[in-house]
Amino acid sequence: MREQRIDNRAVHTGSLILVDAGHPFRQPAAEQLLPVGEGAGVLLERRAALLLDRLMESFGGWRGILPVSGWRSREEQQAIWDDTLRREGEAFTRQYVALPGHSEHQTGLAIDLGERRERVDFIRPAFPQGGVCGEFRRRAASHGFIERYPAGKEAVTGIAYEPWHFRYVGAPHALMMAEWGCTLEEYLDQLRPRRWGEDPLRFRREGWDVAIAYLAAAPGGVTAFEVEEARPWCISGNNQDGFILTQWGPTGRAAPRPSPAGARAGRSPAPAGRHL
Ligand code: DAL
Ligand code: ZN
Repeated sequence: MREQRIDNRAVHTGSLILVDAGHPFRQPAAEQLLPVGEGAGVLLERRAALLLDRLMESFGGWRGILPVSGWRSREEQQAIWDDTLRREGEAFTRQYVALPGHSEHQTGLAIDLGERRERVDFIRPAFPQGGVCGEFRRRAASHGFIERYPAGKEAVTGIAYEPWHFRYVGAPHALMMAEWGCTLEEYLDQLRPRRWGEDPLRFRREGWDVAIAYLAAAPGGVTAFEVEEARPWCISGNNQDGFILTQWGPTGRAAPRPSPAGARAGRSPAPAGRHL
């Protein structure tokens, strides 16, 4: 075991941050952004962009799917809010546009996708269940993407059903959320009792043995924790009060028994070609 330390400001960064009406986007530094698709001018955070392109390449998805909206600045979100309010009124705007400062699009981890058609609606692009869009849905979780605003969860997310809006969270989390049928809000709540060093969530999927756990931010600005050195791991803030730690390795070895507290900052690399 090796002790690691993380600055508590990192609570507001990482692929699992919850950004919704109750949780503004508070990341201190800008993400590195990359374009997705071809020539559409749509940007995503680096890892989300690479994995989206990999997902699309796996079935020729860009031939039938258009990236409609990815990263937005706060100013752009404000302009979209103002414009939609003027055109469609308040009820519609509150259903389909996040409050400026509270949009996942500001993270660079969210993308609206539309089926390629002659006319594509910018606020509500068509993204059906079947055909090329259905193929995207089947492959999304194993590449780390979730449908963020499902039907029936409007009271949880605060946003209407948006079958076109996908959010990068990382593969083990996306697989779990898809299996559990839960939103990011619900997933983070369910992880809260799974304390790092005590009772991590453990599961095996797609050849990997994964441990996921919650780590509360310690008082005082820095949080210390221990990880098993031999396995890759990563950490994300939840944008609330702590972190989600993920550690993995090939199946066949016992999953680690991580324990809290303990000294080296940084992240272990993912196994070549795998992105969890
Ligand atoms: N349409 C989503 C909720 C946004 O504006 O971020
Ligand atoms: Zn969206």
